[in-house]
Amino acid sequence: MSTALKINNITKTYGNRTVLNKVSFETYTGEVFGLLGPNGAGKTTLIKLITGLINIEEGEIEIFGKSLNKEYEEAMSYLGAIVENPEMYKYLTGMQNIMQYVRMRKNVTPERVEEVIKLVGLTNRINDKVSKYSLGMRQRLGVALALLHNPRLLILDEPTNGLDPVGIKNLRDILTNIAHKEDVCVIVSSHLMSEMELMCDRVAIINEGNVIKLDSIDNLLSVSQGNQITFVYLTSDIEKTQHLIDENTEFQADIQTEISDQQLLVHVDSDNYLEIIASITAMLVKNNISVYTVSKVENQNLEEAFINITNNGGGQIA
Ligand SMILES: Nc1ncnc2c1ncn2[C@@H]1O[C@H](COP(=O)(O)OP(=O)(O)OP(=O)(O)O)[C@@H](O)[C@H]1O
Ligand SMILES: [Mg+2]
Repeated sequence: MSTALKINNITKTYGNRTVLNKVSFETYTGEVFGLLGPNGAGKTTLIKLITGLINIEEGEIEIFGKSLNKEYEEAMSYLGAIVENPEMYKYLTGMQNIMQYVRMRKNVTPERVEEVIKLVGLTNRINDKVSKYSLGMRQRLGVALALLHNPRLLILDEPTNGLDPVGIKNLRDILTNIAHKEDVCVIVSSHLMSEMELMCDRVAIINEGNVIKLDSIDNLLSVSQGNQITFVYLTSDIEKTQHLIDENTEFQADIQTEISDQQLLVHVDSDNYLEIIASITAMLVKNNISVYTVSKVENQNLEEAFINITNNGGGQIA
């Protein structure tokens, strides 16, 4: 794992509007890093700065230790990116588009071309005209083009925009594969929290140009819900089950029960929750209750976490 991108105190203003405010963070190879924020948060602006499409006025950006201001060409040699729509010729085939690109770049081997086409799953359609591609295929051809020169940092602005659930899953698998197996740092932006939750290892939440939180997905989810974990009990007698659990002094401090929609919810507030659940289940069986299923309620999703974070800690730099 090495530092792929270093953003240091970046501020960007348009007229008197501050679009990015002292943004600083680092991203690493081997991770999928998400820029999450609502419309107008500053995600595209930040990506345009990193990819050299707009000039840095305040602060510094380094890609693998090369400063964008001082060593632009070297910094760019590590980078592959799709900002807005990937440029491609619709009347050419996928392969012809790739070859067009290969001619402009040095050192792309025929093996790499094959490898990249396979990676994005376009082998069967690569000789079709791009005008005959679906949006998802065009998106994947874009990823292929961005990957041809073996970048160690891949940045995609809203890559899943307009894709259907299958297309999103395909792209997600491709990107996590590139990050985790090829040790590339992949950065994606999105305003869809549910998507970041599935795709990213770490996320920076951006709101009105401020990074208000930066953490691993796991931490973001667990911090926002405290230590409480909820289990659903399905038993032969829900009321009696609740009564037995509530009466049992052994668990009282760590447990709250609740009946909702004919289901018994057991909220456990302890690191020992597995043992507690095992003891409860044993106790119920001893009291002639048939326990059909016990299931853990999934963590609240990042959407709820995001709303909690922006309500409670908005404006604070993490
Ligand atoms: N060229 C420009 N001139 C003036 N203001 C701009 C310019 N480009 C972006 N902005 C402003 O900067 C802010 C951030 O825009 P940006 O496109 O970075 O947001 P975003 O997070 O990518 O949003 P979205 O989710 O809608 O793509 C917005 O208020 C936008 O109006
Ligand atoms: Mg944008």
